Amino acid sequence: MAIPTLRPAVGADEADAVRRVLESRWLGMGNLTQEFESRLAGLVGTRHVVAVSSGTAALHAALVTLGVSAGDEVVVPSLTFVGCAQAVVAAGATPVFCEVRPESVTIDAEDAARRITPRTRAILAVDYAGFICEEIDAVVELARGHDLLAVHDGAHAFGSASKGRPVGSLGDATCFSFDPVKNVTCGEGGAVATDDDELAERLRTFRNLGIPEGAWARRAAGRWEYGASEIGFRYMLPDLNAAIGLVQLDSLDERRERKRALLRGYRQALGDVQGLELLPGDVDSSFPFLCVARVEDGRRDELIEWLRLDGIAAGVHFVPIHLQPAFAGASLSVTEDVYARLVSLPFYDELTDADVERVVHSVRGFFANE
Ligand SMILES: Cc1ncc(COP(=O)(O)O)c(C=O)c1O
Repeated sequence: MAIPTLRPAVGADEADAVRRVLESRWLGMGNLTQEFESRLAGLVGTRHVVAVSSGTAALHAALVTLGVSAGDEVVVPSLTFVGCAQAVVAAGATPVFCEVRPESVTIDAEDAARRITPRTRAILAVDYAGFICEEIDAVVELARGHDLLAVHDGAHAFGSASKGRPVGSLGDATCFSFDPVKNVTCGEGGAVATDDDELAERLRTFRNLGIPEGAWARRAAGRWEYGASEIGFRYMLPDLNAAIGLVQLDSLDERRERKRALLRGYRQALGDVQGLELLPGDVDSSFPFLCVARVEDGRRDELIEWLRLDGIAAGVHFVPIHLQPAFAGASLSVTEDVYARLVSLPFYDELTDADVERVVHSVRGFFANE
């Protein structure tokens, strides 16, 4: 059987939780969403977490409610998920792409600084593969020095920590994704974490079509009237999805340990392969999300094809945004060089030791076969 790159860790408990929501006949945003938000806030170390329908929605909502608007520029590392740039455009602003550091594949704060103009309003620091953005503190300092916002995209590092600090409180707002393959999935979902009470209120209204009070609260109070006080989007996280997320949180610790063990296993088994280098990063403080390696000598695509013929799907995270048709134009030599080497090996909870052995055997076979 083919081994995929990523695969959600869902099973009977998630199915039971969904069935209970269906039986309750309240499928939309309600008390389960609230419970999910409180549990998340405890885990990421912030006063508030506002759940939304996706990580991209979280970024859009955070940017708008922090005040990013038409005419602004937001500095974004090009080597990340295209949703980061789409969210900037949705907020009416322009993404300005910057380089990543080759070692960590996270934002190069010095390069970001060079791209600041009088129109810059925010910098987006993005975590990668489970490791918190190495220069998050430098980005926050840079933002403070130029009166800019530091938005943190923690989609890859939910459940990770940096220097003893949990992922949620490092920037002005932190955005998460709970899409199908993330370490915590809701099916689809996202969230914004913040310590700012007023920002949290604006986020709650924004994700509810600009209506300050949600349908669940109106029902509880027996009220039928509602009114949009501002512009907003239909970005609510339904109970149906929150129910899945709540089950996922119950097994967070053991699944984090599993991912750590898997990554340590890969590092041990492939550490001596000439021509391949696994992404470094502190496993003990992280919830690893991807198993990323760098392939030297321009052989990345050849390796992916070799694995495919062995029934193993490898991926690439990510195609730089400035190389995608909708955002083409910039030239970023470091990013393009990093991208050409990246490969993501199969990495998910249910990957068995035998599967890992199969992947390792195939990878070693490729590099032995000069
Ligand atoms: C770094 C990063 N940011 C944001 C997102 C957007 O999340 P979603 O897919 O839930 O919209 C993703 C999704 O893969 C991501 O990898």
